[in-house]
Amino acid sequence: MAERAETAFRSGYAEPPAGRWAAPGRVNLIGEHTDYNDGYVLPFALPLRTVVAAARQDGPTWTVRSELADEPVTFTADEVTGPGRVTGWAAYVAGVVWALREAGHDVPGARLAIASDVPLGAGLSSSAALEAAVLAALVDLGGLDLPAEDRPRLAKRAENAYVGAPTGIMDQSATIRCRAGHALFLDCRTEAVEHIPFDLAAASLAILVVDSRAPHRHADGEYAARRATCERAADTLGVPALRDVSADGLAAALDRLPDDETRRRVRHVVTENQRVLETVDLLRAGGIREIGPLLTASHASMRDDFAITVPEIDTAVEAALAAGALGARMTGGGFGGCVLALVDADRTEAVAAAVTAAYSDRGFTPPTIFTALPAPGATPV
Ligand code: GLA
Repeated sequence: MAERAETAFRSGYAEPPAGRWAAPGRVNLIGEHTDYNDGYVLPFALPLRTVVAAARQDGPTWTVRSELADEPVTFTADEVTGPGRVTGWAAYVAGVVWALREAGHDVPGARLAIASDVPLGAGLSSSAALEAAVLAALVDLGGLDLPAEDRPRLAKRAENAYVGAPTGIMDQSATIRCRAGHALFLDCRTEAVEHIPFDLAAASLAILVVDSRAPHRHADGEYAARRATCERAADTLGVPALRDVSADGLAAALDRLPDDETRRRVRHVVTENQRVLETVDLLRAGGIREIGPLLTASHASMRDDFAITVPEIDTAVEAALAAGALGARMTGGGFGGCVLALVDADRTEAVAAAVTAAYSDRGFTPPTIFTALPAPGATPV
């Protein structure tokens, strides 16, 4: 990827870049729709990544090329004075420039070229990877003072306020703060992290990632609706966020909610937070094989209570489990995207074949399936 970004830069600008910065896609092992409820998540970074090659240019002007676009996009300081003026893929870049300037940084003008093997729209955080790689490039080119632990919040601001997607802080944290060989245990309220060893090979295990190829169905509107329901419920319960409802207090909290749909949504968030904590406890104790049932329970909760799965996704989970996966669940925001399955290393091909066969039986577009080991977060390359 680094070479592709370098080539894109040299051919677009007829000069070498000053450097190259990479940021990965992610999967979330467990903890879905908990981040914007101030709860817990446990993502790890993928070996797939977005690389930005970049160099300074004079004046407050930014020019961006992407392998996927014929023409570059150029914007000046005027277009980053308020949210939303640059649209399309370049909005993620403009959003980062905007958020940095809003935070008082003297952002250098720059030329950038982007190459990526993070699939777009597959729920693997291609947008956070792009934001993080651009952010790293601009921080280094300008010598800006922005420690790694403060970067996810700034990238999230670009996504929420400039691009206009009301996400939580998981994806930006994962792409920036993950470490190779580890899952990132993140408390989304305090932003405290703990790197949890996740050595699949030592346990003769693998994670299969199944890109469902399901078209995203109303994902943006449904995501925002889930978030709004959670916030209303927290309000009704008189707590700052659903994170403040404990597993022990769940039954009493449900009694105070107005309707069945809200009760289901809250039950998902509260039980999901609990599952993250139990998963972390098991991993800390070396019980990587034992996390399977928690993954599968998480899926059932997303399907039945949070109502964010689709037939392709449920089919992949069921087929993986029937073929011997220790656990399987949808990962990411939902309404399409990817499934991950924890499998014995010597069963990866059998499980992948079973998922593909189940898809074919249902007449779905064939899935893309790959194995993933926890990779490093954003870094110059
Ligand atoms: C998307 C969002 C994240 C998170 C997940 C669901 O990936 O970007 O902030 O809410 O959905 O867990």
